Amino acid sequence: MAAYFIATIDVEDSKTFDLYRSLNPSLVEAAGGKYLVKGLPLTALEGDDLRSRFVMIEFASEAALERFYNSPEYAALKPLRQRSAKSSIGYVNTDSATSHRTGYQIPRFGDDVVLEPVTSAMPELGPDDLRIQPTLISLNPVDWKIQAGILAALPFAFPYTPGAEGVGIIEAVGTDVVGFRPGQRVMAFSSLVRGGWFANKVDVSASQCALVPDSIPDEQAAAFNVPLLTAHQAIKLHPGAVKRALVIGASGSVGSIATKLLGHIAESVDAICSPGNADHVAALGGNVVTPQEAAEGRYDFVLDAAGGPIIETAYRSLAKGATLVSIVQPVDEERARSASAQAIRYSAQPDGGQLSDLMARHPDLPAPRVAATLPLAEVNTALHLLKYGRVRGKIFLKP
Ligand SMILES: NC(=O)c1ccc[n+]([C@@H]2O[C@H](COP(=O)([O-])OP(=O)(O)OC[C@H]3O[C@@H](n4cnc5c(N)ncnc54)[C@H](OP(=O)(O)O)[C@@H]3O)[C@@H](O)[C@H]2O)c1
Repeated sequence: MAAYFIATIDVEDSKTFDLYRSLNPSLVEAAGGKYLVKGLPLTALEGDDLRSRFVMIEFASEAALERFYNSPEYAALKPLRQRSAKSSIGYVNTDSATSHRTGYQIPRFGDDVVLEPVTSAMPELGPDDLRIQPTLISLNPVDWKIQAGILAALPFAFPYTPGAEGVGIIEAVGTDVVGFRPGQRVMAFSSLVRGGWFANKVDVSASQCALVPDSIPDEQAAAFNVPLLTAHQAIKLHPGAVKRALVIGASGSVGSIATKLLGHIAESVDAICSPGNADHVAALGGNVVTPQEAAEGRYDFVLDAAGGPIIETAYRSLAKGATLVSIVQPVDEERARSASAQAIRYSAQPDGGQLSDLMARHPDLPAPRVAATLPLAEVNTALHLLKYGRVRGKIFLKP
């Protein structure tokens, strides 16, 4: 694969242009470029829009070419050429026109920051990565939290393209990848610091991807990744068997799946949600209770997927030996210990193998409720809805 920088030039001030010409080759060389044609006369056969001299420089990739063209060193030299010659400049990418991505990026954190579309050449594909063309992207509360800077302690790099999960078609596989090939449909939960799903192409570590069975529609494949892994990993933090479980925030994406998974292993699953979601949670197998009805000191596994003051209910409901997992807020480990229990603040980890396994073992998982599906270009509206809309169900973006 290569990209070819092409220029046709009419020199008007040869003294200044010679200065440019004496400096530019070393920049080209340093950027890995190779002159194939260096200012030879161009003979026109038809038309009168060609200039008199021709330059052609080969770069290993479009990214390498753009790095050269946008480098500060070349920016410093450019005015010399622009003052001394008329030029027409462009490039040809033999790696096809599909090697660009338009991603919706933030330049920094902040509630006031909007995502802007930026089109750029794709970087070299990492050896362990898959390059995916998303067909459906699913939003998670973490997307607006990252945008607002709530997770700023993590090592994010800017500009940052958010988006943690979705489904899409593999366009290319890295040299060390096994088990995946172009054309396959995959789902993934990408590590948060990498993100990248709010785009028409995303590179994801193959270890974070799972093949999607044909029977699974895009909505499920896009929206199961984060909630399924979060619910499963949170439940696994409890060392023993779960007899009686309590899910707080049971109507949400994580809470719904946790209610369903706990239904397979626990004798009973009590669930707290707002009254308007009670039917949805009951259909998942949860016994809907109010915070006041949650049994004191009786649950051996409690999931806090809602956050806020309701965690008080969680502490007082812990049985001896119980595990409280909050996926939303810090926990008071000491307080749990004084009730002979443990409390853990947990952040889910991407894991494609675990995702495959869970998808195969749980064909009965509830389809996500679809709150809205918007074009990718309306990502800012989607994030606003997610943060302030109190929507019931998932918000999707379609590239
Ligand atoms: N630590 C991790 O790894 C991890 C992973 C995934 C999610 N999370 C966090 O876990 C929480 C739940 O995630 P999710 O994906 O399940 O969210 P979700 O699908 O948006 O559900 C959130 C649920 O919380 C309830 N809720 C209460 N107050 C709300 C408000 N002001 N706006 C919206 N919903 C409100 C709603 O249920 P009712 O109306 O029935 O009360 C809603 O169903 C979020 O805070 C998310 O950031 C953490």
